[in-house]
Amino acid sequence: MSTTAPTTTAASQHLDILDEIDELRRIRKAVILAHYYQEPDIQDLADHIGDSLQLARAARDTDAEVILFCGVHFMAETAKILNPGRIVIVPDMKAGCSLADAAPAARVAAWKAAHPGAALVSYINCSAGVKAVSDIICTSSNAVRVIESIPRDQQILFCPDKNLGRYLMQQTGRDMELWPGACIVHETFSEQKLIQLKVRHPAAKVICHPECEPQLLQHADHIGSTSSLLRYATTTPDADTFIVGTEPGILHQMQKAAPHRTFLPLPGMDETCACNECPHMRRNTLEKIRDALRDLAPRIEMPEPLRLAALQPMDRMMALG
Ligand code: 13P
Ligand code: SF4
Repeated sequence: MSTTAPTTTAASQHLDILDEIDELRRIRKAVILAHYYQEPDIQDLADHIGDSLQLARAARDTDAEVILFCGVHFMAETAKILNPGRIVIVPDMKAGCSLADAAPAARVAAWKAAHPGAALVSYINCSAGVKAVSDIICTSSNAVRVIESIPRDQQILFCPDKNLGRYLMQQTGRDMELWPGACIVHETFSEQKLIQLKVRHPAAKVICHPECEPQLLQHADHIGSTSSLLRYATTTPDADTFIVGTEPGILHQMQKAAPHRTFLPLPGMDETCACNECPHMRRNTLEKIRDALRDLAPRIEMPEPLRLAALQPMDRMMALG
């Protein structure tokens, strides 16, 4: 996140580009969706901000002609799966996700074929190809409910996040086979740095996303999706200071909703880098948003048979409420 004040010229260019985006959004009849991990400027211009489940619902329900998805590729692809009649564009086609990259569809399909009768539950952070071979999708907001919807006598394969998978095994008491994927951002948090922050701020509550490793989660007072962390940190009467174990983009909404509270982002192992920021999410910029609305590109497209196959496990998740 940028901390330096813009110069007068930079500030006026910034206002110009915001005006251009507003004008193009109107002309294109577009809706702008932004994940909580986007830069504050992008969150502030979005029509809807949310976690992956909230944004999937917003994408499904919109009647805008164009959906501009400011997040990462799998999120925009999910929007297209749910709302094929709309043009779905992204600021940067290269904004991927280490979890989605860790699970090539052909290998996941082979894994499933080697376990006849098992249910394949896939975290939404995966490609359309993986969704298409899955039985049901989950997000970090509804994963416990999704796992509990699988009959107790059926084996479960969980893909692609082993950390979320382990956490769900603890929460549900279900045994699951886990795909060995992980998030490069949540894996970078160090237990040592967390303990140092706790010593310096003994009254602080620790809040973590379930993509964190177990040695981090064992210190957490609250574990949940980005929307759940936001809700807890801004409403709990139990503390005014929070050590935040997820991508620090979320701090923008926390500070807006509870300006008198203190939110301390957990640094990565190497404090000299910004490796607690998702490099994929941060590829999106105001300039790329303007250009995407102007050019209606880069555009998410997929073959209809793939979309229909990926839609089925998405619909099963959505039907759980
Ligand atoms: P949420 O489901 O909380 O939006 O998480 C998405 C994500 O990519 C976390 O790294
Ligand atoms: Fe993927 Fe991790 Fe970035 Fe989320 S934070 S989009 S899981 S790489």
